[in-house]
Amino acid sequence: VTSAADVAVVGPGAIGSLAALAAQMEGHRVRIFGRSDPGVPIRVVQQSGTPIGELDFPVIVLGDRNVTTGDAGGSADWVLVAVKAHQTHAAGPVLAALCKPSTTVVALQNGVEQVEGLRPYVNGAEVLPTVVWINAERIGPAEVAVDGSSVPRLHVPVGSRGEAFATLLADSATLRVELVEDFRSEAWRKLAVNAINGLMALTSQRARIYQRSDIAALTRALAVETLAVARAEGADLPESEADVLVEMFTAMPPDRGTSILADRLAGRALEWDVRNGVVRRLGRRHGLATPVSDVLVPLLAAVSEA
Ligand SMILES: NC(=O)c1ccc[n+]([C@@H]2O[C@H](COP(=O)([O-])OP(=O)(O)OC[C@H]3O[C@@H](n4cnc5c(N)ncnc54)[C@H](OP(=O)(O)O)[C@@H]3O)[C@@H](O)[C@H]2O)c1
Repeated sequence: VTSAADVAVVGPGAIGSLAALAAQMEGHRVRIFGRSDPGVPIRVVQQSGTPIGELDFPVIVLGDRNVTTGDAGGSADWVLVAVKAHQTHAAGPVLAALCKPSTTVVALQNGVEQVEGLRPYVNGAEVLPTVVWINAERIGPAEVAVDGSSVPRLHVPVGSRGEAFATLLADSATLRVELVEDFRSEAWRKLAVNAINGLMALTSQRARIYQRSDIAALTRALAVETLAVARAEGADLPESEADVLVEMFTAMPPDRGTSILADRLAGRALEWDVRNGVVRRLGRRHGLATPVSDVLVPLLAAVSEA
């Protein structure tokens, strides 16, 4: 039995609400911080509509003024960051108010640059990176739907922080924390999935586009260049992984979406830089050609600003 901890979640969206619910179910003291108040408690349901649970506390909105630790209700032992990567900077004052050096900040975000992205905002707290294997989406101002076809999982690197986080959420059936030995390779495998998901955002279409042979060929080329950058960054991902990725995308249920497509359809800014821009940026650093990303990235950036 774990003792109750002070858990703060920043970003009451699809992933943050699910994480907050899992922490609540484990008996922790949970606060959740957002930029708007939905007015009613957030409900989390399966995509089928079956309820999973409801947060028994409201969303706290502190605004963008100078936020003090007192305004936030005190610092936290755990700060789970579930804003989109491009929203981290705006959430900086809340993060600073919640974090002390002994806090563990858990990055519930996509991308392989989580630690560098959060470090400037967390007062010297340690940042635990994760790979988020969850498919969830906001279906209303206070409602989140989670794909229940497999247990939502967070992968964390082996080590004492990861173990402590796994203990925090115990063996929650709502959200399972698993430790992985080769976290770098795992993070890059997910990054390759994210980069390929960019094609859905660009075409405003769900996974059925991958059944086109021309899109499958483009997917393969994008996977190959992403895996080359991944290997240059130390990931153990052979080029043959590209075929695994193409197979995975062509076999996806045609109606499957992704968070970057949801943002595109809602006319919101896109998380393009940490999901696609990174391939081109790090490719350049290693002197690797990334011809597919060289085209996709400016298009995604332009669409994101439209
Ligand atoms: N959804 C998925 O299936 C999935 C899967 C794997 C990884 N991820 C990753 O997980 C991360 C979170 O994604 P998500 O899908 O949960 O996004 P989301 O549903 O858009 O949630 C983001 C939340 O952060 C809030 N927010 C924005 N700026 C804020 C600020 N300054 N202070 C406090 N809250 C703020 C948003 O408020 P508003 O309501 O006002 O916008 C929203 O509630 C992303 O990095 C994403 O790539 C998502």
